[in-house]
Amino acid sequence: MNKLWAGRSEEETAALADRFNASIAFDSRMYKQDITGSMAHAAMLSARGILTQRDAGELIDGLQGILDELESGALAIDHSCEDIHMFVEQVLTERLGPLGKKLHTARSRNDQVALDLRMYLRSETDEITALTKTLAGVLCDKAEEYKAAIMPGYTHLQRAQPVTLGHQLMAYACMLLRDLERLADCRGRMNVSPIGCCALAGTTYDTDREMEAEALGFDGVCLNSIDGVSDRDFALELLSALSIEMMHLSRLSEELILWSSWEFQFIELPDAYTTGSSIMPQKKNPDMAELVRGKTGRVYGDLMALLTVLKGLPLAYNKDMQEDKEGVFDACDTVKLCLEVMAGMLPGMKAREDKMRRAAEEGFINATDLADYLVGKGLPFRDAYKVSGRLVAKCIREGKTLEALSLEEYKEASGLVGEDVYAAIDLDACVSRRQSLGGTSVPSVEKQLAAVREKLNAL
Ligand code: ARG
Repeated sequence: MNKLWAGRSEEETAALADRFNASIAFDSRMYKQDITGSMAHAAMLSARGILTQRDAGELIDGLQGILDELESGALAIDHSCEDIHMFVEQVLTERLGPLGKKLHTARSRNDQVALDLRMYLRSETDEITALTKTLAGVLCDKAEEYKAAIMPGYTHLQRAQPVTLGHQLMAYACMLLRDLERLADCRGRMNVSPIGCCALAGTTYDTDREMEAEALGFDGVCLNSIDGVSDRDFALELLSALSIEMMHLSRLSEELILWSSWEFQFIELPDAYTTGSSIMPQKKNPDMAELVRGKTGRVYGDLMALLTVLKGLPLAYNKDMQEDKEGVFDACDTVKLCLEVMAGMLPGMKAREDKMRRAAEEGFINATDLADYLVGKGLPFRDAYKVSGRLVAKCIREGKTLEALSLEEYKEASGLVGEDVYAAIDLDACVSRRQSLGGTSVPSVEKQLAAVREKLNAL
């Protein structure tokens, strides 16, 4: 291939160096952004009288033809080109002759690649936003289905207090809501145009960066041309938001894996989203949830890799920055897949309410309620806590539950206990009394549901 910098160099670059230098294998996925960016550039150049209207019109038509042919498959990417920018320009020049070479007036690949990447990641952000919303909706629906299904809530993975599965699932819906806010926030800073920063110093041509930005759907332009071509914060911010979102999906996955184990038996995952073992016929493995948990590591890795690539770079563009793409593309692909799989799997998840309830009955998770009952009878909380603790110890010694203790046994521990203690420590009562804002009672969870759904609709 005839090198663009052939004027400066006397020798051909080595084939190995070409291969090492090339990014077309992974940046060709930005072909659409590259071409639409170039169309807006040609239009701006003609609006400012830098290109004639006729030249610009021909360039735009030529670019549109390339785009259509790439989409239909009539034109294939030539992998001997260094990158997607060179490929498009090469095809354009083959087709239009010397006119094709005019397109690159008042721009550089440095601002061009920054533009393409921002536009590409903007559309990925929108797709991830839509998929996150879908999953949040699925979680809300499941939460509604199981809003009264009592299970033990845990701290330290020890049974702590009764909650409902609906309440627990709404916790994840709330996390996804924050993920959506982070994505929207990051999109805002991403949606600023670097085109027109040129190589680094701006240009001597009388360009209109704002016009070009507006035509491409940007909210504004990068203020400083050196920053405009050096900045990859938008990719880092997206990777950070995606890492946090994956962390949420991973925690959910971890719970699904635990809950579907024979030890818990709280849920059953749908056959369509589980696998069997090649040797152990009894197995139903939560592979999808495990993979989501496992893939979280890749996304964290993508974030760390880019942070590290950028940390020592002097301004402005350095070729190291070509390493920005594969990781962030991989992270977007991974997150989209995980969101789709989760949204596909969760509707078929069935809770085994009897098992969850039994676990809730056996864990003394109404011990706090017993203490609260004694507080209601006038005992200070710290003393009530001790009485309740002593009764739990007695139950453990005797293999009983708090509900099974006789009134005499209660009275031995504290004279304040009356017949009404049984109603106070009843599991359903324990849940339905927690009507505080954000609490586990059915009406509280219903309020959370309504609030999350409203926010999802408004986003
Ligand atoms: N393929 C390059 C990249 O991804 C495009 C920018 C090249 N700019 C340059 N000055 N070599 O970063």
